Amino acid sequence: MYSIFTSMKVFSDPWVGHPGLNRLGMHRKRLKAAQAISRFRRAQTVHRYDRDEQHLLDQGFVAIENFLPADEFDALRAECHASVDAAKAITPLPAKPEVWGFGDSDRHDWGFDRFDGSTLNRFIRPGPLAAAFPRNRRFKRLARIVTGKTMAARRNWIYQTVNGDDTEIPDQQREFHRDTFFNCMKYWFFIDPVREEDGPFVYVPGSHKLTPERIAWEEKKAEAAVEARLQQNRRGMTGSFRIEREELAALGLPPPQSYPVPGNTLVVANVFGFHRRGDAVPGTDRLSLYGNHRPQPFIPLGS
Ligand SMILES: [Fe+2]
Repeated sequence: MYSIFTSMKVFSDPWVGHPGLNRLGMHRKRLKAAQAISRFRRAQTVHRYDRDEQHLLDQGFVAIENFLPADEFDALRAECHASVDAAKAITPLPAKPEVWGFGDSDRHDWGFDRFDGSTLNRFIRPGPLAAAFPRNRRFKRLARIVTGKTMAARRNWIYQTVNGDDTEIPDQQREFHRDTFFNCMKYWFFIDPVREEDGPFVYVPGSHKLTPERIAWEEKKAEAAVEARLQQNRRGMTGSFRIEREELAALGLPPPQSYPVPGNTLVVANVFGFHRRGDAVPGTDRLSLYGNHRPQPFIPLGS
């Protein structure tokens, strides 16, 4: 029972996936309560918004170019490249995996590798300049705008994404989805430029809003996930609901947008909104600082 008051999202959980509770509208109630609480937390922590902050609030997404002063950025970029080279010297980039879906983490002293389908995710421990990034004052405000909470610095990584060949092993992150049932944030502070062929982030503007149409869609997906649990279909029990392109239009949402950006750009997204990893040419890569900020949804105190 306790799990329904946490961030637990998978329908394999006996309470989250409980048929009777879901018939009583539990999923809708969790969505609404989590929205109200994150709004309450935000109101405790941020009172006035600048243009970028307002954009994040309205669209669920913002890309801020020239985020750091040039000299600060140059020093950070040099440090990140040194970290990437040091990791590669110890552990060369692994060959493609054999399995479909999320692979296991392969841990090392410098961090870990994990495959999503054919895409290699290399997470490297940040050096001193990179580790200080989450303490940036503007960044902290953006985290609060999405969740009402600041992000723990330990969730900040140097993130190298190496694109594989999707025709061989599909990457689930390239399907449109939302991460979970409440407002949560991911960010990428891009060290190197991201071109269209590098697989830029793709987001559906405004899709973070809990509209009546969205609630109806969520309930339909929750019903299907409960059914999947009864059928013992593991894949169908996921709490990261997938959405088809035709369904986006039916929800009254605009077309998805892809965001290639120069280096020194901070991309912040509310990943309750629909998004995916962009299509990429195999062998290309992206380099960023990255964090996944998903504070517990039912704690009313902002920070
Ligand atoms: Fe995601």
